[in-house]
Amino acid sequence: MSNTDHWNEVYIKKAEAELSWRQDNPSVALDLMKMAALTVRSSVIDIGEGTSRLMDRLLDLGLSDLSALDMSESALAAARVRLGVRENSVKWIVADITRWEPTQTYDIWHDCAVFHFLVKPDDRDAYIQRLSRSVIPGGHAIIAAFALDGPEKCSGPSVACSRPNIHALA
Ligand SMILES: C[S@@+](CC[C@H](N)C(=O)[O-])C[C@H]1O[C@@H](n2cnc3c(N)ncnc32)[C@H](O)[C@@H]1O
Repeated sequence: MSNTDHWNEVYIKKAEAELSWRQDNPSVALDLMKMAALTVRSSVIDIGEGTSRLMDRLLDLGLSDLSALDMSESALAAARVRLGVRENSVKWIVADITRWEPTQTYDIWHDCAVFHFLVKPDDRDAYIQRLSRSVIPGGHAIIAAFALDGPEKCSGPSVACSRPNIHALA
């Protein structure tokens, strides 16, 4: 099964309450964004948005240049339904982050629990290349990943954070 099929199946088969990473309020992400000089004019992309509440909260704050990327079309479809008419205020991007070609730049790049799934060095390089190309000079990237001594798996796929070559990112 491909990673895309895996994630689509997760979001089709599991109720939102069953997702171990689910947060009612992504308060840590919002606090970090405020530390990164978030304003209503900031352009923000969430990598691996899933069905997170991040876009909801950023819309509540009045932001209007918002993008949500995920390889799972099912996840983004569920997030769009939840947002109702407000879904039109977000750019929805169904793509694998390692193959996506950015078409705009961002002030803030946010990733909660995606980077650690990139177990191949080439995929991590592709991610960093896209991040470097699309975050403006002086912009910010907020990446939350498992710690080096963290779990080796999450929701099926292996994660890479406990492997030594992750240090190449530093
Ligand atoms: C653990 S979930 C976290 C979802 C969301 N960030 C949150 O905090 O609720 C990981 C998400 O990353 C997405 N994902 C995994 N690998 C990806 C890739 N290579 N490109 C884009 N999305 C990916 C999955 O579809 C899934 O929605």
